[in-house]
Amino acid sequence: MKRWLIVISCISVLCQALEAQKFAGLALTPPMGWNSWNTFACHVDEALLRQVADAMVSSGMKDAGYQYVVLDDCWEALERDNAGNLVADPQKFPSGMKALGDYIHSKGLKFGIHNCAGTKTCAGYPGGRGHEYQDALLYASWGVDFLKYDWCSHGTANSEETYKTMRDAIHAAGRPMVYSICEWGDTKPWEWAKDVGHLWRITGDITDCFECEINHGSWSSWGIINTIEMRKGIRQYAGPDHWNDPDMMEIGRGMTLNEDRAHFSLWAMVAAPLMAGNDLRNIKKEIHEILTNKDVIAVDQDSLGIQALKYSDHENGVEVWIKPLNNEDWAICFFNKSDQKHTIDFDWSEKNISDDFSKKTLNTKDGNYSIKDLWTKKNLGTTKKNLTAEIPSHDVLMVRLIKH
Ligand code: GLA
Repeated sequence: MKRWLIVISCISVLCQALEAQKFAGLALTPPMGWNSWNTFACHVDEALLRQVADAMVSSGMKDAGYQYVVLDDCWEALERDNAGNLVADPQKFPSGMKALGDYIHSKGLKFGIHNCAGTKTCAGYPGGRGHEYQDALLYASWGVDFLKYDWCSHGTANSEETYKTMRDAIHAAGRPMVYSICEWGDTKPWEWAKDVGHLWRITGDITDCFECEINHGSWSSWGIINTIEMRKGIRQYAGPDHWNDPDMMEIGRGMTLNEDRAHFSLWAMVAAPLMAGNDLRNIKKEIHEILTNKDVIAVDQDSLGIQALKYSDHENGVEVWIKPLNNEDWAICFFNKSDQKHTIDFDWSEKNISDDFSKKTLNTKDGNYSIKDLWTKKNLGTTKKNLTAEIPSHDVLMVRLIKH
């Protein structure tokens, strides 16, 4: 009898081990890296990717936490080979993908690649539909660490089932890969993707403007404000290893410095994956300072992984976002999205700042917090006094309250 029990429990442990699942623990904090799409679209090749990897190291981006070098659409030849394998475009990638992966790894970085859950990528290259297990093995053989999986040409496919097939294929291939679901939020992946991928896009494509919609006919791309406003009430779905993804960043791509600062601050507040989208080879000092602001990155990468909530829409014309952090600290972001500058006079003692989701309350009556400005690095006193500041148009005051 005892022997049977042992056999049965061994079988059930074995079944659990074999059951397909996402590789857990690969994104306990939001992934950080760079993606080729925003700046280079289809103009990608191996020289560019190598130069970007070099720049990520020499510029200090790697030291600031950026890790993944992600090659987006247009890396493929237009047809699979006779055995049905994907082929890297031999003109753009003459050394092949394994060599590119090796180069990226030799820099201490990780290699990301893009494909699509439909029959074709959005740029018209072969998609993964029906080839998932074969493709996952190929990616594994190239040393891929991160797969961004798009949603063009999906026909009538069911999103959850389709994305699960690729998750299972990655599991079967046996190489841990961050699985980045890029389904644009159409079928609410936050409701079904927690055990499927590590991050999921919640919006259509971002573009480099503060507030705008660019209509492409059947779809639109969106500015920073539009993107951040688009999905309300889904912060409770994000957390360690499963993140809401408002898309790659547009910092250093033409907005003003105030706007870039606001963009980076908001992405950190909502615990977004921080994927730079600018040309890292020619990065201006001011842009570099934004992208490598360690205090703001620390808010994004906080181990609790709690996405910020908008506390108030109108503090003298300024939005207030709050994010509970580890060690009872808080990040507070005063965001002036209007076209005029505004002055705030924030009386901590009058506010009841609490978060029903994380059950955290900011107690400024009994507790004392010092206030650090995360952009100027100045100490702004404590929560015993009102916080007064002038906030330029399209800019933020982002502070960390440090518990004593
Ligand atoms: C979709 C995605 C983008 C990018 C392009 C590539 O639009 O949302 O992020 O990957 O495809 O074609």
